[in-house]
Amino acid sequence: MLRSWVNRKLQMNRQSIIIDCDPGQDDAVNLLLAMASPDELDLLGITTVAGNVPLNLCQRNARLMCDIAGREDMPVYAGCVRPMVRKLITAEYVHGKTGIDGVEIVEPRTPLQDEHAVDFIIDTLLERDPGTITLVPTGPLTNVALAMIKEPTIVERIQQIVLMGGAMREGGNYSPSAEFNIMVDPHAAHVVFDCGRPITAMGLDVTHTVLSTQARIARLRDIGNDAATATANMLDFYQRYDQLKYGTDGGPLHDPCTVAWLLQPELFEGKDCNVAVEISSELTMGNTAVDFWDVTDRPANAHWIHTADADGFYQLLMERLHHYG
Ligand code: RIB
Ligand code: CA
Repeated sequence: MLRSWVNRKLQMNRQSIIIDCDPGQDDAVNLLLAMASPDELDLLGITTVAGNVPLNLCQRNARLMCDIAGREDMPVYAGCVRPMVRKLITAEYVHGKTGIDGVEIVEPRTPLQDEHAVDFIIDTLLERDPGTITLVPTGPLTNVALAMIKEPTIVERIQQIVLMGGAMREGGNYSPSAEFNIMVDPHAAHVVFDCGRPITAMGLDVTHTVLSTQARIARLRDIGNDAATATANMLDFYQRYDQLKYGTDGGPLHDPCTVAWLLQPELFEGKDCNVAVEISSELTMGNTAVDFWDVTDRPANAHWIHTADADGFYQLLMERLHHYG
């Protein structure tokens, strides 16, 4: 009860957030959703990390979304080009060579900031009042983990972390037991899940229930503005891989679950659990061991989201995309 009251109080005030991402079409839609919600969200900056595609494409793609959103003033930062320990793995087979196949690639008008993403995260947390900034990672957790390691005093200053990553009942989407974001940088994920700050985790268990069906994409396209058309075109391309793999109508719209939770947490259900990350076994590397039934003595370190109102989620996304005129 207390947590839901706290969540409601948190959500009632305008929230200062930093989105750390690896666009990727779903990251891109998450950025458009966040920038379409200025009354509730103060997006202080966008940091990018290598993941779906190499870093140079991720930062370009984030800047392109700022162009589409009419937010050429949005500070965008490039971060880590590779994971902390392992070699970089990317996912062009899902997202296409550009990372956001489905939209025309042009040189963005939105500039790239000189400061490194890790330093932006550190500086912003040190400059702002403690407990006032939410981190929203939707890619590998390399930038966030390195910020915590480089400047440990920022950890206590983080209000909360709302991330997309991990899986429990769904198994893995990269390996039989690991979700992509965690698999790319399991060591970074271990650091973040071990940091002690409030974490809300959107794993595959919930993101696989919010499918971008043909009907939903058609309704998005009917909105008719640039942002909605770009969203529909990106999802048209992006959903084909998972649609073929899982035999579903549409693919999971992973990353926008994070901003949607910030906007309307009542669309989701979760449970406080311990989440631990496998960093030893090569067979299960990157697995998120979610102690959903409290069978260990490991303390809960995350609010594990397992259920979503998919219709409500897409209703929210459609409503917000009308923001762009
Ligand atoms: O496993 C899904 C996650 O990996 C999403 O964040 C997608 O963008 C990719 O980064
Ligand atoms: Ca992502």
